[in-house]
Amino acid sequence: MRRFTGTVMLLFLAVFCTGCSFGWKKAGESADRQSEPEPAEDLIVVGFSQVGAESDWRMANTVSVRTALTEQNGFYLIFEDAQQKQENQLKAIRSFIMQEVDYIVVAPIVETGWDAVLQEAKDSGIPVILVDRETDAPKDLYTCWIGSDMRAEGERAGEWLADYLQEQGRGDEEIRIVTIQGTMGSSAQVGRTEGFANVMADHENWNMLAMQSGDFTQAGGQEVMEVFLDTYEDIDVVVCENDNMAFGAIDSIHKAGLTCGPNGDIILLSFDAVRAALEAMKAGEINAVFECNPLQGSLLARAVKALEAGEVLEKKQYIEETYFDADMDLESILKTRAY
Ligand code: AHR
Repeated sequence: MRRFTGTVMLLFLAVFCTGCSFGWKKAGESADRQSEPEPAEDLIVVGFSQVGAESDWRMANTVSVRTALTEQNGFYLIFEDAQQKQENQLKAIRSFIMQEVDYIVVAPIVETGWDAVLQEAKDSGIPVILVDRETDAPKDLYTCWIGSDMRAEGERAGEWLADYLQEQGRGDEEIRIVTIQGTMGSSAQVGRTEGFANVMADHENWNMLAMQSGDFTQAGGQEVMEVFLDTYEDIDVVVCENDNMAFGAIDSIHKAGLTCGPNGDIILLSFDAVRAALEAMKAGEINAVFECNPLQGSLLARAVKALEAGEVLEKKQYIEETYFDADMDLESILKTRAY
């Protein structure tokens, strides 16, 4: 099962480890494990290139993968945090190929630029599983993809807004909207932006004043919202393409002496639905959040085990998602929320 050999390990250490940013880490460990023994022969070695730690969602996603791919479950996880840089992901994938891992798992930061490295993985016979975000790479370069339908999330947000405005008697009013986008070129940004735009096309009275990236971080969201508030006098709706940017936007809205949420000056929509966002909604700061489910670890573990058993998997595996708004029983929802 495992192709992880001492010779290759030594070769990899000699050629790549001096001065390189990625060390070999076991699930749940942060220390460099270059001096540690090799994993047991019967474990399935999985190299996972994660985007980074830019958001609460991302952290929950990392925990989910680490919790599912444990030695007790038969895995040996090599985790690499790319710190939101595609070049780091490319390096990590090439290091996984050098290490002859059994499976490569990638959460691709952006959609483009993967063909060459995925071809290298394919040539070396290592199956690649994509998680979370999608790529435009030819489908034969990876085994399957497990993640969220980001376009559906964006459409859900647009439809929710249309219903809400109608209920508020504002269905025909001019609605001035700004969007704080995620990392440009990521399928999360592309899908949510396009999905929302699809619904917007049916509402001539909706006016998108500006869209700017906050790179999925709280600091980014705060900065972009500050610029929007300085530039536009009347903003009716802020669409934040993730919760952490929404937290930053809320700070800027308050700093400008304004309020947001169901009883506020600005309608605030967000994506992810992490615990802190539901708490902010309960506190009256957010109108609605459109879930992006980070709990992909068990699906990933199941997919690897199925491949080991020789099964053929569905190419695309969507994870279930919903939405939450301020009219719901958030108290009860929070009691059972896993992230
Ligand atoms: O790809 C999922 C997105 O990435 C989440 O919405 C965001 O919080 C994360 O950084």
